[in-house]
Amino acid sequence: MQRQEWRSKIGFILAASGSAIGLGNIVFFSANAYKFGAGAFYLPYLIALIAVGIPVMLLEFGVGNYWSRAFPQAMGKIGGKVGEMVGWWALLNALFITMYYVTILGWVLGMLIKSISGELWLPAVSLPAFAFPDGKLANPYGSFFALISSWFNVLFVSLVWAFNILLVVKGTRSIEAGVKIMMPLMWLFMLVLLFRGITLPDGINGFFMLMTPDFSVLSNPQVWQGAFSQIFFTLSLGFGVMAAYASYLPKKTDHTTNTIIVAGMNCSFEMIAGLAVFALLFVFSLTPKASTLSMMFFIVPQGLSKLSGTAQIFGVLFFTLLLMAGLSSSISLIEAMTSALIDKFRWRRLPTVITVSIIGILGSIACALPVVIDKTLKNNGTLGLTILDLIDHYAYTYGLLLVGLFEAIIVGWFFPVSKLREFLNQNSKIKLGRWFDVSIKYIIPLIILSLLAGGIISEFERGSLYGSDFELGGFRALPLAMALLWAVGTFGGALVLTLIKKGEKNEK
Ligand code: TRP
Repeated sequence: MQRQEWRSKIGFILAASGSAIGLGNIVFFSANAYKFGAGAFYLPYLIALIAVGIPVMLLEFGVGNYWSRAFPQAMGKIGGKVGEMVGWWALLNALFITMYYVTILGWVLGMLIKSISGELWLPAVSLPAFAFPDGKLANPYGSFFALISSWFNVLFVSLVWAFNILLVVKGTRSIEAGVKIMMPLMWLFMLVLLFRGITLPDGINGFFMLMTPDFSVLSNPQVWQGAFSQIFFTLSLGFGVMAAYASYLPKKTDHTTNTIIVAGMNCSFEMIAGLAVFALLFVFSLTPKASTLSMMFFIVPQGLSKLSGTAQIFGVLFFTLLLMAGLSSSISLIEAMTSALIDKFRWRRLPTVITVSIIGILGSIACALPVVIDKTLKNNGTLGLTILDLIDHYAYTYGLLLVGLFEAIIVGWFFPVSKLREFLNQNSKIKLGRWFDVSIKYIIPLIILSLLAGGIISEFERGSLYGSDFELGGFRALPLAMALLWAVGTFGGALVLTLIKKGEKNEK
């Protein structure tokens, strides 16, 4: 079977940077930066980018392009069955992330509609499903909880899945067409928002707020774990998607230049977004409860609502930007999973995309379940949001780092890394030195192992299973159930997919 190829170099760059630039850049970065001492977050962030981000991106590009196979098959060429299993595990973990990521995108779509209809800009919204004294909740909180406690949000989530399917149904063809429209618009919208932010009276002080480091946080291991997880997530590493995208490249590719361009575009987008968000925070002296979702659905809309007269325009711009940025990311995982299944089982594309999407939709709906379990909103409000938070905890906090650890060990120890380096250098203007081998073999595994150890220790310090952070009402078993679902879904699924016999049809 003829493997697809990108139509142009720019198509690949746009698709790979589209995968990288997502919700992570626009809101998660600012939320993390705020939580971890604003400017002080830059230092761990830059260290994470250079020590782990760049080498792992080179590794994933190299592995995918060298064997021209999706991630599990390429890893299988290196590490046999274990390698293949790591590849599937990465994709399944990323599928969990995609499930709730698309749920969030469904909410972005819902909020976009509410900002067009004007509901988001009213002072308050009535929320009969919750127990508030006068039955109302101030905006933007009101609009958001009205959205996620209604079955409409399930409809929005399904719609976003439909957009995803349309964008991957023709593989690189439809992806290329999609990102060629979305990426320039995203940059434009982001620059407009930045301009609006820093030209607000005092807006430039947000810049200073972001640039004023609080170095005392650097001794906090959570800051470091936050920075490294953010780097994996924002650069789309540990998802298996960069390998899949690189497998559609011709062999004569300048991988180091591509890595610098993709990582550079991603991180500059992140900085610009950070400045725009911090300008809003500063001007309206908002103090965020630093969670990623609150930044997106509460803090930024709250700031925008104070732009008298133009709130609606900028609100629509902001949510459209989020939707495009998110879509160009989520399609990358659907494509990576699809190409892995096609490579293994020789299925046809359309049924494969549909199969992946049906599993994804079910997960996204679980994260959107509008059942109110916490009527006074002490915590998460709905069952869906609680499930979302729990899955995020396992798949994001631990999953991505684990994939990074496994891939570095397999490529570093079961394969001559120098051979991968020579391959990466073949057509590249900037040549990688021996530091690359040292980094993959020793430095990255050591860094990730210490982060994971730190994470597990702090988990114990906070007391029992993660669930202790939640007021779960009658749902106390939920954290355990989600941990099991994630572990069995990823490990069990990867085992089955590895051991199952591959399809022979169409095999040359
Ligand atoms: N890099 C994206 C971001 O910063 C996240 C992401 C990458 C992603 N690939 C993905 C999310 C696949 C879901 C599915 O937001």
